[in-house]
Amino acid sequence: MATIALIANKKSVPKEFNRVAKSYDFATQMSQGYQDDLDCSAQRMQLNGNEKLLDLCCGTGKSTLACLKFLPNGTIVGVDNSEGMLEVASEKFAQEVSQEKIAFVLNDAMSLDFPDNSFDAVFMAYGLRNMPDYQKAIQGIYRILKPGGKICIHDYSLADNFFSKIYWVILGYGFIVPFCTLMSGSSRIYTYLVKSVLTFLNPTEIKLLLEQNGFEKVSAEPHASWRSPILHSIIAVKKA
Ligand SMILES: C[S@@+](CC[C@H](N)C(=O)[O-])C[C@H]1O[C@@H](n2cnc3c(N)ncnc32)[C@H](O)[C@@H]1O
Repeated sequence: MATIALIANKKSVPKEFNRVAKSYDFATQMSQGYQDDLDCSAQRMQLNGNEKLLDLCCGTGKSTLACLKFLPNGTIVGVDNSEGMLEVASEKFAQEVSQEKIAFVLNDAMSLDFPDNSFDAVFMAYGLRNMPDYQKAIQGIYRILKPGGKICIHDYSLADNFFSKIYWVILGYGFIVPFCTLMSGSSRIYTYLVKSVLTFLNPTEIKLLLEQNGFEKVSAEPHASWRSPILHSIIAVKKA
């Protein structure tokens, strides 16, 4: 499927991730600070350590690992709609972490198959941008969160200024697309990545979306790394 068609039909995005699942971890390792930034967002959630957390769009489990560091007594359900990405995630944790602590489930983030009020926290790293309907996705997350539960959206969301856009275009087309295409043999998902960031909400708009859908105590913080103009942690709480 061509990149333009992927933007128009984001339902197909998880299938595209199947193509790059085996090379995904290597590509992100080459992206300096990728794991550190995920860890930073997980830390910013200020978890108690015993929560039941949903890692939505967990991919190969890099975001799951970040959450695990702050949940010594908690449990994690990782959800993704790409079989290939989930396979890598499951293999990664199978040896060291019990299935009671981490479970991986194939599910569409647009129609979550969990009861109302069933999670204390939701972490969504590089996920919301891929949703066909941002509002519907947020409403689904709100439904499955317990009152007082927290959400963290960690995503490439360009600050609303010209510099951020130029920075992203140079980085995306000058480095991410050529390098990741070389690594994975497929350019589509990475060209889609660059375009999807350019058409995604800015941090202020994500905050507004959360507030309009019942969340409170909404904050948006940029990251301190070289991704500072392009990467934010947006944290909010479901009204108690
Ligand atoms: C860029 S990866 C992020 C993986 C991981 N969270 C991380 O931080 O490395 C985005 C993931 O979102 C998943 N995804 C996209 N649309 C989805 C949907 N509608 N439902 C569930 N997963 C989806 C993709 O399959 C992919 O694994």
